[in-house]
Amino acid sequence: MPGTEDTPMVRFEKVVKKFGDHTVLDHLDFTVKRGDRVTLIGPSGSGKTTILRLLMTLEKVTDGMIWVGDEPLSHVRKRGKWVPAPEKHLRRRRLSIGMVFQHFNLFPNMSVIDNITEAPIRVLGRSKSEARERALDLLEMVGLADKADQHPTTLSGGQQQRVAIARALAMEPEVLLLDEVTSALDPETVDDVLNVLREIARTTEITMLIVTHEMRFARDVSNRVLMFDGGRIVEEGTPEKIFTNPDHERTQRFLQAIVGK
Ligand SMILES: Nc1ncnc2c1ncn2[C@@H]1O[C@H](COP(=O)(O)OP(=O)(O)O)[C@@H](O)[C@H]1O
Ligand SMILES: [Mg+2]
Repeated sequence: MPGTEDTPMVRFEKVVKKFGDHTVLDHLDFTVKRGDRVTLIGPSGSGKTTILRLLMTLEKVTDGMIWVGDEPLSHVRKRGKWVPAPEKHLRRRRLSIGMVFQHFNLFPNMSVIDNITEAPIRVLGRSKSEARERALDLLEMVGLADKADQHPTTLSGGQQQRVAIARALAMEPEVLLLDEVTSALDPETVDDVLNVLREIARTTEITMLIVTHEMRFARDVSNRVLMFDGGRIVEEGTPEKIFTNPDHERTQRFLQAIVGK
């Protein structure tokens, strides 16, 4: 397990991310403590997804470093110098992080349970029966135990998203990244997904980074909110502070726009 009680679970250190000439993250510094539930808010294009994708090692930093626990995610030490991590290092470190995306990307040709057990068997080397038992527990937790043998395409969007959450948790990550997981769903299935996440937050110690426009949910679940704009953190604080009495005009304007929707 990377890190001790005291080291942050996640640390961004002067992280720069550019796409071509476009600087998306501009010397970004922040830390997330073990067990924190951090909500990232900010206008579209402010770099929230990029932050999660960097953590998931789906993108590479342009400059700066990312740490997960007491070991860098983005770099390895070679002859006394930090150098960008090779794929092998990324593959290993990626195991401590799980991600659920806006568009549930389940394997359509596999049953629900096979979707959940595939990676634990192939990547973690779990036995079939062990993986299956754990998957059934997780399906129970997300309220879909009766759907184990169905195909994802027969499920509603909200149900598929709950399977995606179970699949992420099946890898027993230390950090769970949630990127607008309810934005693509029919309104009537949103609450089922949010309630599952509330329950996970209540019953586990897992560290969560959450991008959401569901402010009520963010208030219920998170202990910190970071407001992003222009590749930087504009303001951060408790949900109570940020949602009811933000200091910055940019945050006020952003929240008004969301409420007005
Ligand atoms: N693969 C990419 N290539 C080029 N530009 C990208 C890529 N991914 C993201 N961007 C740009 O980076 C900026 C931040 O995007 P993103 O992290 O998705 O923001 P958010 O999730 O806050 O809406 C946007 O301007 C977006 O167009
Ligand atoms: Mg995004």
